[in-house]
Amino acid sequence: MGSTIEIIKKRKSVRTFETTPLTSEHLKQVNEYLKVAENLVGPLGRKARFEVIQIQNNVSDKGIKLGTYGFIKNHQGYIVGIMENTKMGLVEFGYIFEKFILFATELGIGTCWIGGTFNRNSFAKEINLSETDFIPCITPIGYAKEKQRLFDKTLRYVTKADNKKAWHELFFKSNFENPVSKEDVGDFAVPIEMVRLGPSASNKQPWRIIFSEDKNEFYFYLAHTPNYNKLGFDMQLIDIGIAMCHFELACKETKLDGRWTISDPGHKPQNEHTEYIISWVANK
Ligand SMILES: Cc1cc2nc3c(=O)[nH]c(=O)nc-3n(C[C@H](O)[C@H](O)[C@H](O)COP(=O)(O)O)c2cc1C
Repeated sequence: MGSTIEIIKKRKSVRTFETTPLTSEHLKQVNEYLKVAENLVGPLGRKARFEVIQIQNNVSDKGIKLGTYGFIKNHQGYIVGIMENTKMGLVEFGYIFEKFILFATELGIGTCWIGGTFNRNSFAKEINLSETDFIPCITPIGYAKEKQRLFDKTLRYVTKADNKKAWHELFFKSNFENPVSKEDVGDFAVPIEMVRLGPSASNKQPWRIIFSEDKNEFYFYLAHTPNYNKLGFDMQLIDIGIAMCHFELACKETKLDGRWTISDPGHKPQNEHTEYIISWVANK
């Protein structure tokens, strides 16, 4: 793999694709990636499952019509993610699926996280789910159309996709009263910038990080968007997993060694919607 940091900077949601099918070489690489057990395990040990579905005119090989409510155009297939629907299951799913998204981005395959605007029932029929299986998200796959459709541009505008929050809104030193300044973070400037650039449901960017003064501990919080949890699962937990993925991969690339642990430091929350999720602790 090349520089993950560069891939994270490059990735953006693709909603309009070329009509060209994926090359057999790319399909092979995707299938091989998804066969490697290590690629399907989250940082806390849970396992996700993926299915690759190829489509023609929105209809799968099995003849099932798989809709994405017109948001996505000319995609050549889907990757469907399957995971248990539990709190930390969803967090780990975010981590595992985003790692795949970055892999696809590196190959030049366009993707778009889809958690809301697809027909969960028709996908469930396509892949035979067990009692505990749940489809948190899917992504269309294909090659990005160079010229963005007007609709894409409008959607990017409406969801403020190019509008990422500033550092001081997301990152804090020692407690939530103390917004970060760039000088405070030292070597961790790149890992937290990679968190900031991540995709999130409706681009809400609900991740908040407090780091300890010595920068040995980073506490990840979820700033829940009130009334967002309308689909029967908390999609924003996935966003935290995405943040973990970007943070960890950027740390690895910049030779910062650490591990994940759940141990609430007990800081005063930012408000009643902020929830502690997990910490990254430097290995010394
Ligand atoms: C968990 C999750 C669910 C998402 N669900 C949808 C969706 O249902 N439909 C859609 O068009 N985009 C969806 N997105 C894409 C976001 O709108 C997009 O990531 C965000 O606007 C930022 O833009 P970017 O990915 O280009 O950086 C989702 C993203 C995430 C992380």
